[in-house]
Amino acid sequence: MGSYENTDGDQRYERQSYQRPSKPGADNFVRESFRQNNFWLRIMQEHALFIRLGLPCDEVKLIREAEKLQELFKGLRAELRRLPQKPEAFRAFNDEVIEALGKIIDYKSTVLERLITCNLGGSNLPLLIDHIRREAIRFRVILLRLQNGIRVPLAEQALQEEIFWLRIMGEHAHFIAHLLDPSERPLVKQSVLLAKSFETLRLQAEDLESMEVPRAFENWLLPEKLAGCPLPPRFGDLPKPLLIPRLLRFNEEVIDLTKEIRDFKEVALQLIEACQVLSIIPPLLADHVLREAEMALEDLRIIGRKISKFDQPQEEDRAGIGY
Ligand SMILES: [Fe+2]
Ligand SMILES: [Fe+2]
Repeated sequence: MGSYENTDGDQRYERQSYQRPSKPGADNFVRESFRQNNFWLRIMQEHALFIRLGLPCDEVKLIREAEKLQELFKGLRAELRRLPQKPEAFRAFNDEVIEALGKIIDYKSTVLERLITCNLGGSNLPLLIDHIRREAIRFRVILLRLQNGIRVPLAEQALQEEIFWLRIMGEHAHFIAHLLDPSERPLVKQSVLLAKSFETLRLQAEDLESMEVPRAFENWLLPEKLAGCPLPPRFGDLPKPLLIPRLLRFNEEVIDLTKEIRDFKEVALQLIEACQVLSIIPPLLADHVLREAEMALEDLRIIGRKISKFDQPQEEDRAGIGY
């Protein structure tokens, strides 16, 4: 259990302070770059550790690669702490992180492929690897959007974030149910019920997405090899994303359920730390999923504040609003 120890001591909720630059656009770029890197770099370092600990001990090459990735993200976190709060500094730093994310996404893809073709043993569940690869892919997309000034219309962005976090939170509930000892019946039941509630909300989010962002549905039907290519005429000839008041209520429903799982994870972490629950959940993993719930709440509240500025249904320009 020693190797699971949280080497960051009491940094769990620490927020580093920084000087804001004067230009509003640059300010947002720096603030958002910092917020995302500050959260996700540590998560990536921990993913490499979790994968490594679930590998069979004779998979020496994969174990070494995981160790190298842990070091890579640890180094980037140290660099972030020293980074001047200036747009130019973040521009170069984000590029470095994007490159590192390419490495960890490739690594997770290798592990996942071997798992789903039954060529790798150990205790990493395939859906867990897919889950943490999705987290890495989304982090890279966020940085690529920031680097390239790509803005997503608010209705589309709201549903993207909600669908992403609803799936992540629902999966956490499933993973917790799996990793608790079966004798912990009430806690297992509570986790499964939470997972079901997240799945129900995710289905609703998908209903809302095809109603409000029909293009997302059309994009989903495109073959992978066409992604990013110029499309033939008539593709994309659909109504623009529509922001409706129902989205605000939906956002609140997602926040309420996320608060519920956040509280559940907080109790779980306390029980694990006090050795009062039977499970194979290491404290660092409990802490990791708790931090992800906190980040989900932060992201969802940001979206909620943006939506609440609009009280009438409105079509959005594809140039969109905000990051
Ligand atoms: Fe994670
Ligand atoms: Fe996660």
